[in-house]
Amino acid sequence: MFESVMAKVKSSYFCQSCGFQSPKWLGRCPSCNEWNTFVEELIEKEEKGSWKSTSTKISSKPKSITEITYTEEHRILAADQELNRVLGGGIVPGSLVLVGGEPGIGKSTLMLQLALQLPSHKVLYVSGEESEQQIRMRAERLTDTSKNCFILTETGTQNIFKQIELLQPQLLIIDSIQTLHSSFIESAAGSISQVRECTAELLKYAKETGTPVFLIGHITKEGMLAGPKVLEHMVDTVLQFEGDRHLTYRILRTTKNRFGSTSELGIYEMSGYGLREVTNPSEILLSQREEKLSGIAIGTMLEGNRPLLIEIQSLVSPATYGTPQRSATGFDNKRMNMLLAVLEKRGGLRLGAQDVFLNIAGGLKVEDPALDLAVCMSIVSSLEEQIIPEDCCFCGEIGLGGELRAVNRIEQRITEAEKLGFKHLFVSKFNSKGLDKNKYQIQLHAASKLEEVIDTLSSIITKE
Ligand code: TYD
Ligand code: MG
Repeated sequence: MFESVMAKVKSSYFCQSCGFQSPKWLGRCPSCNEWNTFVEELIEKEEKGSWKSTSTKISSKPKSITEITYTEEHRILAADQELNRVLGGGIVPGSLVLVGGEPGIGKSTLMLQLALQLPSHKVLYVSGEESEQQIRMRAERLTDTSKNCFILTETGTQNIFKQIELLQPQLLIIDSIQTLHSSFIESAAGSISQVRECTAELLKYAKETGTPVFLIGHITKEGMLAGPKVLEHMVDTVLQFEGDRHLTYRILRTTKNRFGSTSELGIYEMSGYGLREVTNPSEILLSQREEKLSGIAIGTMLEGNRPLLIEIQSLVSPATYGTPQRSATGFDNKRMNMLLAVLEKRGGLRLGAQDVFLNIAGGLKVEDPALDLAVCMSIVSSLEEQIIPEDCCFCGEIGLGGELRAVNRIEQRITEAEKLGFKHLFVSKFNSKGLDKNKYQIQLHAASKLEEVIDTLSSIITKE
């Protein structure tokens, strides 16, 4: 008798980093090569979970692709335009969306706001993290209210599905996936096998009923979605909510989207009344400064499909302790070192004995190579202690030979710079070739080399 009970409870070892399953303990994961990540978790294979205990099984058969009919999926439009855009044009029925981010960044606020701003839809907000009172208190701060927003504080998936069957919500929000547990699996909430099982149950629910489900997920210290990478494979869309907790700006980014582009970006400001959409991001990214300083250059960049103007700050000062320090915040360190080498070798700048610090304003992390020119100009400006006029901005990639290379979508960048009132934009010669310069009020300065940019800039400075 004892044996038959034992046979039912099965345990397995799971890599806590990637979710790899092994029947015995391993020192190193063969899948992700991490050491010491295996943890024993109890699993019970029998009576596998289903979101609906009485669900009628429909077995699927192969169909010719031309036979499959589809109606234009009717997306639910959130009141939040930034969220709609990031999702690729609204919420797709039956989609599973993972919202990841560090603690305190505003994931719960974003999701509660979504629920409260959708009074035409019945939304169920399941929280395993906060009490009903806490959620109500938060809702008081966000000015919107909706009678159709239901709160459930529960962590067991079986109970959650029971309530779902009663309520029949049109949108489900889970805060957070790491607090859920399924009774079909023995291990603790937040463990790999629990997270995977609960997600699988929710996935099934979403697909069978066509209800969109948002899952909030925590991020570990290393910046990984806590728990398994497998979670990212299971969901349709992964949104990352990022930003510095101490700054007010937050960025919502798509890292995976089965229903739209992954290059979209939403910008929010955390205010005393919840998250506010920022419709003109360039204004916040250009710092409001009163006195003019050297070491500041404005560059144009594209985040997703959005053109932005951003302030690059650098500080170049003689190194006092032995080896000079080079450090960049929000910008790739390797790329900065490459640009420093180009400035030294091709531009003849003496940077060898200087400390160089680079900072991207607004706490943003940038990757667009079109910012190279602005980075170089801010370094030159700091080294020479020469202030760059406020109405100048820069756009161009720098090659190893110090040549200015063309960038993509130049028209969009020019229009954005013009819209923000800049008078001079420095671009690569190759970019300016096909452009109708008379179309723009902003003055375009085409250059093929960094030195030409510096020369033109000096002549602008002396004229002013
Ligand atoms: P929260 O949504 O709880 O973050 P997460 O779910 O990602 O852990 O939001 C956390 C922070 O937001 C919290 O420190 C307080 C702040 N906040 C505001 O500044 N204004 C507001 O209106 C709300 C609701 C929160
Ligand atoms: Mg939260």
